[in-house]
Amino acid sequence: MLKKLLCALFGLSFAFGVVAADTLADMHAEMNGCESCHEDGSPSSDGAFENEQCVACHGGLTELEGEQHAAHADMLVCSDCHAPHDMEVGQKPTCDSCHDDGRTP
Ligand code: HEC
Ligand code: HEC
Ligand code: HEC
Ligand code: HEC
Repeated sequence: MLKKLLCALFGLSFAFGVVAADTLADMHAEMNGCESCHEDGSPSSDGAFENEQCVACHGGLTELEGEQHAAHADMLVCSDCHAPHDMEVGQKPTCDSCHDDGRTP
């Protein structure tokens, strides 16, 4: 049963062009190009345009599941935690770059 499920997931990840070593940015670019986050494909200087695109597709901090999202409404933007070019697909953002009390997601 588990094996079947894993095979199905593996097949699915190939179908979507997602492989383990993909960064979050590459995975999104394979779906919709660099333009899905960057205006005309060029990075902005402040990341504002990019973060508006995340919200347009996924919803904002108060709409997403998980306390780690709602807790930072009006304080953080998506890329503060999900650095698209520095993180791999499936990699969980950590908390200790800002909180030093050992909290986890
Ligand atoms: C999921 C959204 C997303 C996609 C897709 C994406 N980027 Fe980015 N990119 C960002 C964000 C957010 C930043 C700024 C923050 C950062 O550096 O992580 C950024 C920054 C950059 C920078 C500035 C240098 C740097 O790394 O900070 C370059 C260059 C860049 N992206 C190129 C690309 C190219 C080329 C593609 C397509 C292959 C692409 N990006 C696809 C979100 C994305
Ligand atoms: C404070 C850091 C933080 C911020 C800011 C944040 N996230 Fe997250 N996000 C996380 C963590 C941690 C998880 C993983 C939760 C888990 O799996 O336990 C997550 C999970 C997700 C997931 C589900 C990923 C999966 O594995 O299915 C999506 C989608 C997501 N975030 C999108 C966003 C978007 C869009 C924004 C901006 C509106 C955002 N996040 C802002 C920390 C953050
Ligand atoms: C054009 C629409 C679109 C934009 C723009 C977009 N995403 Fe996504 N994102 C998706 C889709 C579709 C998926 C794959 C299905 C899913 O997991 O929801 C995805 C998946 C994710 C995941 C889960 C990846 C995993 O680990 O499984 C995270 C986290 C995420 N996006 C964060 C972001 C962040 C942060 C930004 C902005 C920098 C962003 N997305 C911009 C459509 C988008
Ligand atoms: C980019 C910096 C940053 C990251 C990363 C971050 N936080 Fe925060 N967080 C803040 C700031 C700023 C506040 C508001 C000031 C405060 O209360 O410390 C805050 C407040 C909170 C609060 C509400 C107040 C409190 O202290 O309980 C919770 C809950 C929280 N964060 C959970 C998390 C979790 C869980 C993670 C890891 C997924 C995380 N944070 C990652 C910056 C961050």
